[in-house]
Amino acid sequence: MASFPKNFLWGDAIAANQAEGAWQADGKGVDLADVISKGIMSGTPSSTIDPDTYYPSHEAIDFYHRYHDDLELMAGMGFKCFRTSISWSRIFPTGEETEPNEAGLAYYQDMFETMRKLGMEPVVTISHYETPLNLIDKYNGWDSKKLIPLYERYCKVIFERFGKLVHYWMTFNELNNVMTIPFAAGAIRVSGTPQHQLQQKYQAAHNMFVANAHANKLAKAIMPDAHMGIMVSMSGAVLYPATPNPADVFATMNLQRRSFFFADTQLNGEYPRYFERIKRENHLQLDITADELALIKQYPSEYLGFSYYRSSVYAAGVSTAGSTGGVLGEDNPYLEKSDWGWPIDPTGLRYLLNVLQDRYHKPLFIVENGLGDVDTVTADGHVHDQNRIKYLQDHVQAMNDAIEDGCDVMGYTWWGPIDIVSAGTGEMKKRYGFVYVDKDNEGRGTLKRIKKDSYDVYHEIIMTNGASV
Ligand code: BG6
Repeated sequence: MASFPKNFLWGDAIAANQAEGAWQADGKGVDLADVISKGIMSGTPSSTIDPDTYYPSHEAIDFYHRYHDDLELMAGMGFKCFRTSISWSRIFPTGEETEPNEAGLAYYQDMFETMRKLGMEPVVTISHYETPLNLIDKYNGWDSKKLIPLYERYCKVIFERFGKLVHYWMTFNELNNVMTIPFAAGAIRVSGTPQHQLQQKYQAAHNMFVANAHANKLAKAIMPDAHMGIMVSMSGAVLYPATPNPADVFATMNLQRRSFFFADTQLNGEYPRYFERIKRENHLQLDITADELALIKQYPSEYLGFSYYRSSVYAAGVSTAGSTGGVLGEDNPYLEKSDWGWPIDPTGLRYLLNVLQDRYHKPLFIVENGLGDVDTVTADGHVHDQNRIKYLQDHVQAMNDAIEDGCDVMGYTWWGPIDIVSAGTGEMKKRYGFVYVDKDNEGRGTLKRIKKDSYDVYHEIIMTNGASV
């Protein structure tokens, strides 16, 4: 007998820039994803679009023109919710206009209405690695406080327009990844000495904390019933010390804080005490005002949305284990790995949920979890994705166990229910979907959709509220 609550939010998650394509349609501006050709792990790109280079986000899977059919496919699995992001540059093409782009608003309005008609609650990420490029070129992104009122204006417009359709929001995708992938997560080009770069990252984080508090304040005024959450990458928090050497254990705890710090501040409404030492040791000179701290205190976030894909192992002074793809740490001989080297660790999810429950006492929402794998269409026209089925079942079981442990889990949204562009590498080959999309790494293919074997398995899990696992 499964322990999932009756109103548990089963569903999925995607991001606009990894699925929509139509990168210049209906007045959309250029955003940071549009200048990335090989994924966000490949470094900081220039702002120029090279006509001879392939940019996967420009067409992606053409969700922009196909979302009616795609959402019907998702509804066929019985989804209770659908997480996606609003592309900021569809609403404010440069981020600085005083009036929003009506075509962009109409697009999302129809999308959210369609979801509701199909029985799916929209779950919206306000900014998912897709800040308008102009804001990077002109202000160096979140390094500058100039972005705070611009983000506020964007929030006001979408809250007023979609407040009746959307009840679950998250302000920034994986805000903590500003430490590891500052261009994607902080919209900044870091420069200068390592100390200066660190300073830029912490300043950007602070500015986003302030923007998050402003969004929470606005939400209370415009849509009092809305649930305002944050989104933190927590793969880096499931970090095991390489040895029982206390030096490894302590260093591991310190590195876990690189994920927790962002939830500590935004859920508790104040900077954690250990931040004083971080500032002191790194000679950080941050522009933080008393008014901003008061705002953060007054408007903390209500729930913790997080991604979890894998765990890692850390050896003090040796590893570079971190929270996002590509930074993997030491080998863990007890775990199998995906084709991209990510250790598969369902027990890590149960462990994480318990740690987060004990630390925050707020609802937990797993808004990304999934397996990127190589899939092939066999001669019978099917895709037999056994690895994905096992990953799904094992993680649902772990979640069930965590709920029995006492964790307050409000939902689970699988990452990439239909194959989309990989954020980390820009590949199509790294597939997460229950639905296959005929497209390859070079952009060739018919874009035809095919249900994989996992499609029916997830359907059954949802229909039985987890009992089929
Ligand atoms: C998360 C991001 O870090 O991981 C997603 O929020 C991303 O945008 C997902 O797609 C999986 O990573 P990847 O690199 O396999 O696409």
